[in-house]
Amino acid sequence: MSQSSSQVVLITGCSSGFGLLTAARLAAKGYAVVATMRDLRKEGNLASEVNRRGGAVEVLQLDVTDKLSVARAVEHIRMSHGRIDVLVNNAGYGIGGFFEDLTDEEIRAQMETNFFGVQNVTRAVIPLMRQCRSGKIINISSVAGFSTSPAFSAYNASKWALEAFSESLRYELQFFGIDVLLIEPGTYKTRIFYENAQYAQNFDNPQSPYFVWSQHLRKRVLAYVNDCHKDPEEIGIMVEKLIRAKNPPFRNIPDIESQMLSWLRRVLPFRIYSAMIRMFFMEGFSRSRPGEADHNPMRSERNSSMPAQVR
Ligand SMILES: NC(=O)c1ccc[n+]([C@@H]2O[C@H](COP(=O)([O-])OP(=O)(O)OC[C@H]3O[C@@H](n4cnc5c(N)ncnc54)[C@H](OP(=O)(O)O)[C@@H]3O)[C@@H](O)[C@H]2O)c1
Repeated sequence: MSQSSSQVVLITGCSSGFGLLTAARLAAKGYAVVATMRDLRKEGNLASEVNRRGGAVEVLQLDVTDKLSVARAVEHIRMSHGRIDVLVNNAGYGIGGFFEDLTDEEIRAQMETNFFGVQNVTRAVIPLMRQCRSGKIINISSVAGFSTSPAFSAYNASKWALEAFSESLRYELQFFGIDVLLIEPGTYKTRIFYENAQYAQNFDNPQSPYFVWSQHLRKRVLAYVNDCHKDPEEIGIMVEKLIRAKNPPFRNIPDIESQMLSWLRRVLPFRIYSAMIRMFFMEGFSRSRPGEADHNPMRSERNSSMPAQVR
């Protein structure tokens, strides 16, 4: 067993988006990055980014829902580095769809990745951190982890569960010198909204009582995301800052959109906050119910520049 001189950072979901950029950034800064992904055929984009910036990453296969692949990857790191200093639980996706349009299986699958997946990796890594009596576990939550929106109840539930788990785990692990931290980003234009976007089985079913509403919301969210020019590298910058910090805060928000919603959520009475959310998402549907013939989703198009709180 060899020992790394630089801090060893394990990151999940590095085939694209935040995971890829964070891995490439930390590698260029000299960290010993173990970038994991469930499908190694997708390694190319990460390899080019690392080449472009300099540094090196070790790429391992890891599907957060597959405990065997988690155990294999962590054992490999134990053998080659002897420790894990930082775990970034980043892998995740969001399923869009109204509760009645979602199947039980779709909701469970969402929880399997975004919530139980984080637990699978965390459970495998903690013993190594405990032995060293140090470590940081950085969980990528979302603005959707403290605020909700229609048509994303499964995603919201997975991120709220992640927040509660992280907060409780933080108390448990502090005695071993291990810190648990959250990052709660707002909207960033990544594959989560495009190639990796998932929708409920009945999302596009014209027979669904939510059909018109679903179509309207998808257009609205995509228009907002297409217009979003924040740099997803901000998540990597924040991860690096948290790794370097001596006493980092528990909740960390990289962007103004999510910071604003977090503040409004705390200061406004819920009645007013939820009216604001309803206005963003449901304007045009408020006086009639989805499925009723007389409502006109296009009436709310004028609000398409409002923050889509669906991430
Ligand atoms: N983009 C945003 O606006 C935003 C905002 C707040 C929070 N987030 C959170 O940020 C994280 C990263 O998202 P992103 O925006 O970077 O999206 P992304 O580009 O779609 O990246 C998601 C990554 O997760 C991986 N993944 C999905 N299921 C997995 C599994 N079972 N095992 C291992 N890897 C898996 C994907 O791998 P494949 O390529 O194999 O699918 C991909 O590498 C997610 O947790 C997301 O909820 C994103």
